[in-house]
Amino acid sequence: MSLRELVLINFRNYEYEKIPFFEGCHVFYGPNAQGKTNLLESVYITARGQSFKTTTDRKLIRFGERSAYIRSRVCEAEREKEVEIKFSMVDRKRVRINQVELESAAALAEQFDVVLFAPENLELVQGAPSERRAYMDSILLGTDPAYRSLLRSYEKTVFPITAP
Ligand SMILES: Nc1ncnc2c1ncn2[C@@H]1O[C@H](COP(=O)(O)OP(=O)(O)OP(=O)(O)O)[C@@H](O)[C@H]1O
Ligand SMILES: [Mg+2]
Repeated sequence: MSLRELVLINFRNYEYEKIPFFEGCHVFYGPNAQGKTNLLESVYITARGQSFKTTTDRKLIRFGERSAYIRSRVCEAEREKEVEIKFSMVDRKRVRINQVELESAAALAEQFDVVLFAPENLELVQGAPSERRAYMDSILLGTDPAYRSLLRSYEKTVFPITAP
């Protein structure tokens, strides 16, 4: 997946921002609290449907506003797609690809790839093995469509009592 353009409206500290992307690596730098992590969070949401920082979508809406909007132009397997995600104080999260609404934001993970390595992920090196496995699972879920059902059967086998 490659990102071509990102538009943020009332997302976190961004009132309106349109960012073009080009082929290759991008580096964002600047003083603290300028919105660098917020920008990466919006890219992650585009590919996963949910934030890596919070499970409360309202926190993504700019203080004092009623809704937030992320629009991305993404190139996937040579085809360009427009992904729109809208967060509202009064409605559920809405996700559309090329104007067609998805039933669930989680379906984005089946279409797009993203790998996050944040400072908190340094815990992966020293922390519990289960954290490492969960991290690898989160990456593989996005790269292999069959992985979700394999993971479910694995969890049922290893944790037969706690698994649903
Ligand atoms: N919902 C929101 N509405 C408005 N501003 C927000 C919202 N959520 C977070 N912010 C603001 O975003 C800023 C933090 O942005 P972010 O964490 O992206 O900064 P950063 O550039 O990554 O900083 P650092 O260099 O310290 O990592 C803070 O000023 C915070 O108040
Ligand atoms: Mg940051």
